[in-house]
Amino acid sequence: MPYYRRVGDVPRKRHIRFERPGGGLHSEELMGVEGFSADSALLYHRQPPTAIVKAEAVDEAPAAVEVTANRPLLPRHLRTHALPSGGDMVTGRRLLLANDDVRLLIAAPAAGPAEPKPSELYRNAAGDELVYVESGTATLESVYGRLAVGPGDYVVIPTSTTHRWVPAPSGGEPLRALVLEARGHIRPPRRYLSPAGQFLEQAPYCERDLRAPAEPLLVDDGETPVLVRTRDGLTRYTYRHHPFDVVGWDGCLYPYAFNIADFEPIVGRLHQPPPVHQAFDGPNFVVCSFVPRLFDFHPEAVPVPYNHANVDSDEVLFYVGGDFMSRAGSGIGLGSISLHPAGFIHGPQPGSIEAAIGKAGTEEVAVMVDTFRPLGLGAAAREAEDPEYAWTWARGLDR
Ligand SMILES: [Fe+2]
Repeated sequence: MPYYRRVGDVPRKRHIRFERPGGGLHSEELMGVEGFSADSALLYHRQPPTAIVKAEAVDEAPAAVEVTANRPLLPRHLRTHALPSGGDMVTGRRLLLANDDVRLLIAAPAAGPAEPKPSELYRNAAGDELVYVESGTATLESVYGRLAVGPGDYVVIPTSTTHRWVPAPSGGEPLRALVLEARGHIRPPRRYLSPAGQFLEQAPYCERDLRAPAEPLLVDDGETPVLVRTRDGLTRYTYRHHPFDVVGWDGCLYPYAFNIADFEPIVGRLHQPPPVHQAFDGPNFVVCSFVPRLFDFHPEAVPVPYNHANVDSDEVLFYVGGDFMSRAGSGIGLGSISLHPAGFIHGPQPGSIEAAIGKAGTEEVAVMVDTFRPLGLGAAAREAEDPEYAWTWARGLDR
């Protein structure tokens, strides 16, 4: 998954001669995950995708990689809008939270009088990336073609996809995104899929909700740098020819976008547990979508969540739309990220249960990431933290 797709020119059978118009053969590239035992795509380049002429190690600043333990163990509130914009969609990322399975970063390319800069060509060889676009519009250009993305889009970029981000010209909302850099693959949950990979009727989204490149993207250019992320850091290759020379491809492995507004919420008479909101599965983490929905309709239902202990996970919520009634008094607002770690019991703010009784629905939109191993704090988390958050549940209670 996602399902089979074919773009541009591909020959009648795989691995047969495919001649270029000016003479010579196209070069095949098979991108296959899990040792070619799972999804793959077969791409046809005009030039060999193997021809590098230079390789350099690229150092990263300590703030881009270092995390410290969440000690003393505290719930955290990070005001991501307080972080300054800067850089591009790849090298300008600010590290918030991380463990050995996933890194969570904020990307807010520099805006203002200068046009926002496209990123250089990039590929993450350590795992898939999931980019949630909070605001602004951009084009994801890749060896698979162009994909236009905008607010509310989840963009899944498979491991080792050579791509770059091109923000729309300034004038509209600035481009801001939450980026998940996984150490593995990000997929729709298995329980949503048939054995052959089709979305089942009970899934909250399906194939028609996914968007992917529709035409080849061909760039005639000479030597071109590509920044490559591995588990050991960054390397910059220089290729003899521009990697965007793919005349066609087919397969089940490609970047795609899915808008959170197309996630169809599952509701019930009483409060539904968090797994009904799940959108993606990653290595030792899940991603859930909280979207506008009718509240629980039992006549005596309590519409806001019950207090809960995430016994086996750290819970991250990114608040991106609506008014977050259950968090009134906590300081949480648009652009906030809360971290409720395993070992801390959390729930609605005092008074919000009573205030919610009789309400018909919610307009709130939030993206949740639950990691099964503890998250450490990056430099940007320390910079954006609201130090009063941990004590807000106790405010107003009798001593
Ligand atoms: Fe929670």
